[in-house]
Amino acid sequence: MRTKALYSGSFDPLTMGHMDIITRAAKLYDELVIGVGVNPSKASMFTLEEREDMIREIFKDFDNVHVDHFSGLLADYVNQNDFNVVVRGLRSTTDFDYEIQMAQMNDRLFNDTVETVFLMTDPQYSYISSSVVKEVFTLGGDVSGLVPDEILKRMNR
Ligand code: COA
Repeated sequence: MRTKALYSGSFDPLTMGHMDIITRAAKLYDELVIGVGVNPSKASMFTLEEREDMIREIFKDFDNVHVDHFSGLLADYVNQNDFNVVVRGLRSTTDFDYEIQMAQMNDRLFNDTVETVFLMTDPQYSYISSSVVKEVFTLGGDVSGLVPDEILKRMNR
């Protein structure tokens, strides 16, 4: 069976932690879609279009990685686009507590063929989040090595 996986997030901005999960997931599945979602409760640094463009540029040499966006229920997007896997990254037990609730709720909403799969983050990135990167950067701290160089250039602009 051909496997089509989704890795979703706000990616505002995409970090090295996300990169790690994406490069590993891309090896596991025939197709991996990076789904840039809108989280209305978060103020954003980059527009949805900017985030999509940056991510597309970073993964342009990955034949099986594509970029898309969605709004509304994740499960609706997953069911309507024939995904069979939703990939999530786990950094800590705090992530686990949140993720198990989401996965179990989504399981009710997903088509029968969809599974949520968790990848453990590389420990060198376990403390990174998009918000912490934005906060340190905004206050003048060095975030090089925490986001891809292409993203850092755009942040500096
Ligand atoms: N490495 C580094 N950071 C990571 C990471 C990893 N492996 N995995 C997650 N993170 C960070 C993200 O950068 C994000 O940081 P932030 O809070 O500082 O922005 C944080 O962990 C949470 O990530 P995530 O859980 O992916 O949330 P998100 O806000 O990025 O996701 C949506 C946004 C749109 C994908 C999500 O809200 C969604 O699916 N919405 C749909 C609504 C829905 O279906 N609701 C019902 C669910 S049952």
